[in-house]
Amino acid sequence: MSNLPDTPHGTAVPATTEGHSDRSLAVPDRFENPGMPPHAPRRADVDPRAAKRAERQVASLFLLSILGTLGFLVAYFAIDPEARGHVPGIGLMSLYHLALGLTLAISLLGIGFGAVHWAKTLMPGEEIAEERHPQRSDEETRDAAAQILSDGYRGAQLHRRPLLLFTAGGALALFALPLAVQVVGGLGPLPGDRLARTHWRQGTRLMVDPAGTPIRPEHVTQGSVFHVMPEGFVGEEAEHELDADELLVAKGKDSVILVRLNPEDIRSQKELDWGYEGIVAYSKVCTHVGCPVALYEQQTHHLLCPCHQSTFDMTDDCKVIFGPAKRPLPQLRISVDEEGYLQAEGDFEEPVGPSYWERG
Ligand code: FES
Repeated sequence: MSNLPDTPHGTAVPATTEGHSDRSLAVPDRFENPGMPPHAPRRADVDPRAAKRAERQVASLFLLSILGTLGFLVAYFAIDPEARGHVPGIGLMSLYHLALGLTLAISLLGIGFGAVHWAKTLMPGEEIAEERHPQRSDEETRDAAAQILSDGYRGAQLHRRPLLLFTAGGALALFALPLAVQVVGGLGPLPGDRLARTHWRQGTRLMVDPAGTPIRPEHVTQGSVFHVMPEGFVGEEAEHELDADELLVAKGKDSVILVRLNPEDIRSQKELDWGYEGIVAYSKVCTHVGCPVALYEQQTHHLLCPCHQSTFDMTDDCKVIFGPAKRPLPQLRISVDEEGYLQAEGDFEEPVGPSYWERG
C-alpha cells in the first residue's frame, strides 16, 4: 500500500535522491476519472416560458431563411442580370449578383443560426461521457444506440413542437431550390431552331465582309475569294443598327466563302446548279468544331480549316477529304437579282457549323 498522497490527477510521484522519479513505485495502474463538471440547467430547462421564447426565436430564424430563399427565387427571375447600381462602400456593381448573394446568405445563415440556437437552448445540454468500446458493436449496444437516437429525437422535442418541425423542414427543403434553379436555369433557354437557321433568305444580297458592299458576278474573277455576309449584317450601317451580340451571332452562323471555279472543274451537278456560272458559295463555319474555314488553295481548289486541318474539296460539294470534320460544308444556293447583284436563293438547306446537333 503506497503512502503517497492522491491528487485529482492520480497518485503523486516521489523524486529520488538523484533527482529522477522511481518509476516502479510512481506509475499508477490507472488515473482517476476526473468526471464531468456538474450540469447547470439552462433557463429553458426550468422555465417553460423561456423554452417557449427560445422556440419562437428558433422558428423566426428558420422563417427568415425561408424568406431569404424566396427572395433569391424572386431576384433570380425579376432582376435584370445587366442591372448595375451604386452600392455605398462598394461602388458600381451588379445589382443582380448583389441580390442573389444577400438572399442566399440570409437563407443559409437563417438555417445555421436557427440550428445552433435550437441546440443551445432546447436540445439536451448535459455533457455525457461515452466509454471506449470495441469497434464492432454487439446487439445490446446497437439497441442502446437506437435508444439514444430515439431519445435524441425526443430530446429535440420535435414530437411536442410541430412549429419547429415544420419551419426547420421548410427551411431545409427550400434551401435546395436555389441550387436546383441555378442548375436548371443554366441549361436554358432551349435553342429551338436557332442553331439550324441563319439570316440568309430568298433575295438577300451577298455583301463583302467587312466593307458591306454588294457583289456583281463580274467582280468575282477566277481564283479570287470573297468573304461575304448577308445584307443588313455587315458594314457600318449594321454596326450602328445591331448590337455587338447580334453581330457576333450573325458572324458565327452566316459567314460564307465565295469562289469562282471553272465550271468544267466542278464535278457535282448539284453544286453547279446551286452556283452561278461557276461562282459557288459555301458556309465558312467548319463542320468540325466551328472555326472559320478561310484558307483557299487555288491550284487544288481545296479549302483548309486552320484549327485541325480539315480539308474540303470545293469542286465536289465541299466534301471532307482530310481531317476530323465529318460532313461537307453546306452550300448556299445563289443567283443574280434584277440589278445584277449576287443574291441568296434562300437559307442553307442543312444546318451550318459543328455536327453534334445538326441532325437533331
Ligand atoms: S474546327 Fe475545323 S478542323 Fe477542327
